[in-house]
Amino acid sequence: MTDPSLVTQIRTPPGTIDLGLGDPPFDLLPLDLLRRAAADAFAHRDPHFLQYGLEQGSLPFRAHLADFLARGYGFPISAESLFVTPGASGGLDLLCTLFTRPGQTVLVEEPSYFLALRIFADHGLQVVSIETDADGLLIEALEAQLKRVHPALVYTIPSFQNPSGRTLPAVRRERLVELAHDHDFLLVADEVYHFLGTTRQPPASFSAYAQEANVVALNSFSKILAPGLRLGWLQANPGLIQQLAGCGLLDSGGGLSPFTSAVVGEVIASGGLEAHINKLQAIYRERLRFMDATLRRALPGAEYALPEGGYFFWARLPGVDTSALRERARARRVDLRPGKLFSSRGGLGEYMRLSFAFYEEEQVEEGLQRLAQCL
Ligand SMILES: Cc1ncc(COP(=O)(O)O)c(C=O)c1O
Repeated sequence: MTDPSLVTQIRTPPGTIDLGLGDPPFDLLPLDLLRRAAADAFAHRDPHFLQYGLEQGSLPFRAHLADFLARGYGFPISAESLFVTPGASGGLDLLCTLFTRPGQTVLVEEPSYFLALRIFADHGLQVVSIETDADGLLIEALEAQLKRVHPALVYTIPSFQNPSGRTLPAVRRERLVELAHDHDFLLVADEVYHFLGTTRQPPASFSAYAQEANVVALNSFSKILAPGLRLGWLQANPGLIQQLAGCGLLDSGGGLSPFTSAVVGEVIASGGLEAHINKLQAIYRERLRFMDATLRRALPGAEYALPEGGYFFWARLPGVDTSALRERARARRVDLRPGKLFSSRGGLGEYMRLSFAFYEEEQVEEGLQRLAQCL
């Protein structure tokens, strides 16, 4: 295999075990599944998928996707309510381009996905974070903030959150949708971990509310298939979809990722996506269990709630500055993501994010031993 640092975003120095990574493991990227699907897509001898694509995304692909989602969510999904994106990041960026102006406020969870915070910064948005508890976003704290500011957008990661692993209960989801309506902000639910439950399934996706004027459910194939595909989707009401499909980017460049959509459409049609997700869930369940057992042995002072899905442990090390710990850890060839990265107010300094998904047992064991030595 080529040196990953020459080809991928992963720049871990050789010999370092980066327990902070948010990428899927190389050994679970479905090379064969996608090779077969690409061969199937070419076998039709229909060049349409090499043309500028339909702005909303190829209809046959959206029909396959709608079928997959309806099976996964347990309620009907119409292909008309889906819009193809180049991943959740691309979807979020496009929403910011079209529905926010520099200087407006975005409310996020404390903690939140640090790279979404970078996208908001690119758009000149003011990020204000809202307190969370073990169940995610605190509705009372949001209501209090809504008395002070009128946000353009509220961004939540409701299921198996990055980094905290928390999942928002159904009642809070419903209340959020009501608040989006009453206070006229765009509610964006980033659900990239929705299908990666390991010991439980999350409550209904925000797709269930996407017919509401202000609710967008964002999702992606990055965590359930492969991030290199740069393929995702969002679900929203017809007016919003129309605005997205009519934007200048698509007018010039056509629909997003038509080629990849055709390949992934074949994956879905063959039943390969569900099979792959089942495989991921089974492997991640084992990796999660192993990291939990190893953490308890190697770092007995770490406090955390056991993740129920997603990728991450969100551990608190009382009295430890995890940013300083990271410096010591890197010197010992192990890495983590310090809590401060995920805070919009310079807090969370005693927390760290560790991924249970990326490494096999031997490296997790070795990585946590090295980390324990730094403490
Ligand atoms: C919460 C969240 N949103 C979005 C992304 C990026 O998704 P995509 O690859 O679809 O842009 C990630 C990846 O780590 C994530 O954790």
